[in-house]
Amino acid sequence: MHVKFVNTGGMGTQGNLEQWDDFVGERYDPNRKTEDFRKFDESAPAGVREFYRENHARQTRQFVQEKRRQYAGRGKCEMGIWEACEYLNTLVDESDPDTSLSQIQHLMQTAEAIRRDGHPRWMVLTGFLHDLGKVLCLYGEPQWAVVGDTFPVGCAWSGKIVFPEFFEGNPDGQVAAYQTRLGVYGEGCGLSQVDLSWGHDEYLYHVVKDYLPLEGLYMIRYHSFYPWHQEGAYEYLMDEQDRAMLPWVRKFNPYDLYSKSAAPPDVAALKPYYEELIGEYFPAKIAW
Ligand SMILES: [Fe+2]
Ligand SMILES: [Fe+2]
Repeated sequence: MHVKFVNTGGMGTQGNLEQWDDFVGERYDPNRKTEDFRKFDESAPAGVREFYRENHARQTRQFVQEKRRQYAGRGKCEMGIWEACEYLNTLVDESDPDTSLSQIQHLMQTAEAIRRDGHPRWMVLTGFLHDLGKVLCLYGEPQWAVVGDTFPVGCAWSGKIVFPEFFEGNPDGQVAAYQTRLGVYGEGCGLSQVDLSWGHDEYLYHVVKDYLPLEGLYMIRYHSFYPWHQEGAYEYLMDEQDRAMLPWVRKFNPYDLYSKSAAPPDVAALKPYYEELIGEYFPAKIAW
């Protein structure tokens, strides 16, 4: 059964999950120079701009902390990894149901590209899992609290975050303590101490953190943190571990962005391989 994606994004949101994925895929095209980002952003479709306007205005420190309290305890349900894939796959892109890849196809395509390049099995599995946090949409969370480039809250917003002007609408702009370079954080405190805007990355990290190697957990937790891994912002919040893990996060990114153009994978044929791989790292059911 296919459940149509209900847009609970509130006023002004006309976009869909796919639109954001496409936008970042084009923005971070390796042939595009950073100085051309502005020009590219100006030509973004209205739905994408509205999405970012809402995301930037509503992701406050208080909101992020509330969402973490709500979800990090993993009290929502028990599901196996494959089961979660099938559940996520009920999310249909209403605007473009025929041409876009299903969620499972995107996951498999990412994983297959990693596998083809001969990377370790945990990394193939990480590719296969990395977007399962998008089940937040099926719990009824609005798009602006599920996807979007992530950024720290509780300290000044970097000008390297896409559409920085939209932070004008964020109430944290009125809190002086959050508007300095370090804000509530210490120099070099480490990203694990930093609250990032809430979304599918952070949620899935909490769900899988006991099961994957640290490199994979970094890929999952920070894959949407473009200002950090693509643009070098917030260097002063990093600790030794973050510096050691950054190359892995960067290594993962192209597989997420550019595996889309390849032919859709044969989900049924590949299922046994992925079920075996999942079984190497995960029990039959985990808490979500
Ligand atoms: Fe993602
Ligand atoms: Fe992805």
